[in-house]
Amino acid sequence: MSEQAALERVADLVRRESGLELPANRQAALRAAIRRTGAAGPDEFLALIARSGSRAAVERLLDEVTVQETSFYRDVRQLEAIGWHGLYAAAVRADAALVRVWSAGCATGEEAYTLAMLASEAFAPGPPPVEIVGTDISGAALGRALAGRYGPRRVRTVPSGLQDRYLAVDGGALVVRPALRRLVRFARHNLVGDVSPPAGEAPFDLVVCRNVLIYFDPETAERVAGSLAGALRAGGTLLLGAADQLGRAQRLGRDEATGSSHPGTSVHTRPDDLLAHAVAAADAGNTEEALARIGLLLAHDPLNVGGHFLRGLVELPHDPRAAVDSLRRALLIDPRFSVAAFQLGRAYDALGDEAEARTAYAQALHTLDSDDLRYDQLLGQIDLGDVATAIRARISALT
Ligand SMILES: C[S@@+](CC[C@H](N)C(=O)[O-])C[C@H]1O[C@@H](n2cnc3c(N)ncnc32)[C@H](O)[C@@H]1O
Repeated sequence: MSEQAALERVADLVRRESGLELPANRQAALRAAIRRTGAAGPDEFLALIARSGSRAAVERLLDEVTVQETSFYRDVRQLEAIGWHGLYAAAVRADAALVRVWSAGCATGEEAYTLAMLASEAFAPGPPPVEIVGTDISGAALGRALAGRYGPRRVRTVPSGLQDRYLAVDGGALVVRPALRRLVRFARHNLVGDVSPPAGEAPFDLVVCRNVLIYFDPETAERVAGSLAGALRAGGTLLLGAADQLGRAQRLGRDEATGSSHPGTSVHTRPDDLLAHAVAAADAGNTEEALARIGLLLAHDPLNVGGHFLRGLVELPHDPRAAVDSLRRALLIDPRFSVAAFQLGRAYDALGDEAEARTAYAQALHTLDSDDLRYDQLLGQIDLGDVATAIRARISALT
C-alpha cells in the first residue's frame, strides 16, 4: 500500500471513530500526529493496530489529532446570557434540586470551570444549586481537566476580581479551589459513537457545545446537534458556539417558528463573522482552528474569495503546494486581488518555481490599487506601498 493510501486509511479511521474531518489540507497535521504517537508513519501505525488490536494506539492518535484549543471565559458574552435563576426555577418545577449542565467537548476543562464560576457568581453568596458534567473524547485532555491545574498564562482571561476567589496559587501554577471543583465532574464520552446523554446521566437543563461541531462534516454535525438536543430535559437550552451553528440555518428556521427557547441557536452566523473568527484564529497562530473555520465558511459560500485567500496564507508556511491551489482559487474569483497574487508569488518562490513566481508578482504589481478597500477586513494594517516595494524587489531579484 502506498504511503498516501495508508494515510487516507488512517484519516478514515479517525472519521469513523470521532467524526473529525481531515481534508487534504490537514494531511500534514495528520502525519505529524501519527509521528507523535511513536509510529514512524501511517503504514507503521496501521500495522501496530492490526498487530496489537488494542484501542490504546487509536486513543493516543485521537488525543493527538483533536484540536483542544480553549480558554477560560472564551466567547463569554454567550455564556453571560445564561439565565441561571430561570433554569433553577424550571428545575424546581420539574422536582429537581439542581440545575444540570453538560459541557460537551470540554477539552482541558476551562469551559466547565467557567460555567461553574458564572453560576457561583449568579447565586452568591450561597453555593450554586448546579452540577456540571464536562466530557471529551480525549483522555489526555480530561486528565488535565481533572487536575484543574493551570499555568498563569492560561488563567489570564479570568476577570482579575475572580481569580483569587476561585483559583489558589500552588507553586508556579493556579489550582481550582475545592468549592468550585465540587460543582464539576468529568467523564470520557464520544459525541459520535456514545449514547446521549452519556450513560448513567439524567437529561440536562443546559447543554453547552462550542467549537466542536466545526470539526465534523456537516452530516455528522447535524446528527450530533440533534442528539445533544435530545439530551435536554423538556424546555432545556442548547447552547452551540456561533460557528457551530452555521450549518444549521434551515433547522434554526424551524426552531424559531415553533418558538422554542434555544437562545444559543437563535443567532444566524454571517460569513463575514466567520471570516473574522478565522482571521482571529490565524492571527493567534491557531492554524487548525483557522482551517476548520475556513472549511465551514467555504462549504457554505464556495466563492468566498477571502476564505480561499486566508486558507492560502495559513497553508503557505508548511504546505506551499496547497497554498498555490488556494491562492489561485482566490484569483480565479477575483483576478484583481493584488495581495493574493503577491502571496501566490511567495508560494511559488517557496516551491522554487521562479517562472510562475515572476508571473504572479507581475500580476500583483499590475493590479495593485491603493484605493481598493474591499479586503480591509483581511488585510488589516497592511500598507500597500510596502507590498509594492516588496514585489519590485522580488521581481528584480528574479530577473
Ligand atoms: C476546540 S475544543 C473546544 C473546547 C471548548 N468547548 C471551547 O469552546 O473552548 C474541541 C474539543 O472537542 C473534542 N472532540 C472532538 N471530537 C469529539 C467527539 N467525537 N466526542 C467528544 N469530544 C470531541 C476535542 O477533543 C476537543 O477537546
